[in-house]
Amino acid sequence: GDKGPFVNEPPWDWTIAEVRRTFERTLAKLPKDFPVQVPLVINGKKVRTRETFSSTNPNRTDQVVGVVASAGEEEALQAVAAAKDAFDAWRDTPPRERAEYLFRAAQAARNRRYELAALQVYEVGKSWKEADADVCEAIDFLEYYGREMIRLGTPRRMGHVPGEVSHLFYEPRGVTAVVAPWNFPFAISVGMTSAALVTGNTVVYKPASQSPVIGYWVYRIFEEAKLPKGVLNFLPGPGGKIGDLLVTHPDVAMIAFTGSKEIGLRIIERAARTPSDAQFVKNVVAEMGGKNAIIIDADADLDEAVVQVLHSAFGYQGQKCSACSRLIVLEENYDKLLERLRAAAESLELGPVENPKNVMGAVIDARAREKILEYIEIGKREGKVLVERPVEGKNGHFVPLAIFTEIRPEHRLAQEEIFGPVLSVLKVRDFDEALEVANSTQYALTGAVFSRSPENIEKARRRFRVGNLYINRGSTGAIVERHPFGGFKMSGVGSKAGGPDYLLQFMVPRNVAENT
Ligand code: NAD
Ligand code: ALA
Repeated sequence: GDKGPFVNEPPWDWTIAEVRRTFERTLAKLPKDFPVQVPLVINGKKVRTRETFSSTNPNRTDQVVGVVASAGEEEALQAVAAAKDAFDAWRDTPPRERAEYLFRAAQAARNRRYELAALQVYEVGKSWKEADADVCEAIDFLEYYGREMIRLGTPRRMGHVPGEVSHLFYEPRGVTAVVAPWNFPFAISVGMTSAALVTGNTVVYKPASQSPVIGYWVYRIFEEAKLPKGVLNFLPGPGGKIGDLLVTHPDVAMIAFTGSKEIGLRIIERAARTPSDAQFVKNVVAEMGGKNAIIIDADADLDEAVVQVLHSAFGYQGQKCSACSRLIVLEENYDKLLERLRAAAESLELGPVENPKNVMGAVIDARAREKILEYIEIGKREGKVLVERPVEGKNGHFVPLAIFTEIRPEHRLAQEEIFGPVLSVLKVRDFDEALEVANSTQYALTGAVFSRSPENIEKARRRFRVGNLYINRGSTGAIVERHPFGGFKMSGVGSKAGGPDYLLQFMVPRNVAENT
């Protein structure tokens, strides 16, 4: 039937007791099924492998959330072959029909919102609210891209020359490898996968190895939507081995990647090598890291700014590509702001996120923990500690919440993506210098400005060069359709997720002109 206009899935209202109780009950119930046995799915068949890996709770590493089949070379080749075989029929399925699969998958996700969010608390250590937001965003992608495909699926009449009928229309590229991160484990995977599918591509989806149980749900909502077999294949496995194979496979036409700059650049380089018998030049969409700044102007509302800065810097332990990791403060305000920031940071509740009072728990894994601890040591050499608060908990990948002052733009703490709860404060003389410092990294993903000056806000609009700029709000929490999301420079190539240009990247345009 006809779909109404797109609306965002509303997050749960946590002030309602019944919502909190239902979430608690779901959290209590879920571990009874742990460890979840996760197979590969190739051509609609569930495949077990001799080798497996486990996915554990970052806040309680002795809790095994899933035991996961691990694809090797043979399974990866089979998955690409299955996707290739399914391609012609799927390409020729009308766009509106393809969109219906997305709407059904959205309903499947909506039917188990509590469960999908609770699983994130256990598998990746998201707080209740952040976990729910991720599930809502996934539903938004499905509803939005479905409607977008209906819009783009109608051939467009071109020109007005008598005796000629000319049409522009879009077709899919072929087999698409979707390679996803763990930090928005459902939303980003669903976003990339649904975009590839609705445009008529067939998919081999490799979830991040830290979030394969949630990744399996990406497959399962489409299974529930009755997607034809072979159209979506699910392939957990070691990133290096499987990733390299998918990226260089001659039958893979497109790679949709979200993750680190290092892996993104590697994919771009490897995908660009084109043997003489290649059938196409591979298209790569790579959404990568950030080193996002918030500028606090001399006349900013400090109460508002402090709350938003803390949320942007430490929400989900700072493990968002959009997280604020640099705070740029005009000297007029510096002492006052720092005092309030310190006091507010000292008052945050820290600890395992199963308990909803805690806003910050463990980071994703032992490697992330090591890396963040190293940066905290570097910070102590480069600057001065304003706040360092350990997180209490046993058996988890805990790192302290840390804020450093006296960081200068050339310091490593001001240049490198840390991907943890570490915030650096930089002092500047005036707003022009603030903009200069804000732009002084390789990255250009998100940014924010707190100011009451129309003149400075206008300057920021023009000269704060990031993909997503927020004025008088924090740097995280883009909403599908309202804030098309993505950056440039070393933050990525490709157009914005959740925006009107996104689907075009998954297709090739064709034109047919007929003399009549
Ligand atoms: P990552 O780059 O380590 O891993 C991403 C994916 O790539 C995983 O599935 C991994 O298994 C796979 N991979 C590893 N080696 C590979 C190879 N050689 N070839 C192909 N694939 C390979 O990133 P992560 O730790 O999962 O995620 C964190 C990073 O993602 C951060 O840098 C963050 O900024 C970025 N990120 C960006 C966005 C965005 O929209 N710009 C969104 C979320 C996360
Ligand atoms: N879309 C996510 C955010 O804006 C990355 O925080």
